[in-house]
Amino acid sequence: MKLKGKVAIVTGGNSGIGAAIVLELARQGANIVIDYRSRPEATEALEKQVAALGDCAIGIRADVSKLADLQMLVDSAVKEFGRIDLMVNNAGVETRTSVLDTTEQQYESVLAINLKSAFFGTQLAARQMILQGGGGCIVNISSVHEDWPMPGNSAYCLSKGGMRMLTRTAGVELGPHHIRVVGVGPGAVATPINEATLEDPQALKKLNAAIPLGRVGTPESIARTVAFLASDEADYITATTLFVDGGLMQQSPGL
Ligand code: BGC
Repeated sequence: MKLKGKVAIVTGGNSGIGAAIVLELARQGANIVIDYRSRPEATEALEKQVAALGDCAIGIRADVSKLADLQMLVDSAVKEFGRIDLMVNNAGVETRTSVLDTTEQQYESVLAINLKSAFFGTQLAARQMILQGGGGCIVNISSVHEDWPMPGNSAYCLSKGGMRMLTRTAGVELGPHHIRVVGVGPGAVATPINEATLEDPQALKKLNAAIPLGRVGTPESIARTVAFLASDEADYITATTLFVDGGLMQQSPGL
């Protein structure tokens, strides 16, 4: 077990990649605060699965775009488990709208949920880690689109581009406190965010064909990467992003 006795917070933790991360961290021995926005029944089911693995998870409903709610998550981890060792800034949404048609409301909500939450999640978790002494780890769940434009998903790309620099800047600033900040950049993964593509056989065939490994990824592959990065096995990795995309970003357009 790579994370025995560690305490983690996972934002957006009751579905998709977040839920897989919760289960993998539990498998590796961590106790977890599961942040969620809707579907309390999914959170309860996860709490039970974590308990069956011999660890403890508590679900907290919060709006991660609000600083006060993020502070509540940190406070809950400290109250329940005494400390925080790992912050996983995972909550994310996308609107699939272009520069030309994105509304002010869409822009603000994507940037707040994806980027503002990661910025202040990093800040508040790091303050607690510094208070405790002994370092810690912050993992930002980004995307191949922190580097790679996705036409028609402009605000999302912007938020992930911001997350790229958050990982790098915070990684440099927090290094002296022995806090590592690492980005994980998934490619196309089978989660609710990609439902429309996954349910359209033609679109799915096209997507699979664009991925060198020939298939969309699983949430579990991303989760195992997070557990590795959070563990002492990754003790010299900080201020960078690890892409987990089956080679998607490097594929050639065949010109
Ligand atoms: C986006 C998906 C997209 C995938 C690969 C992800 O970050 O959320 O909508 O399919 O990147 O392009």
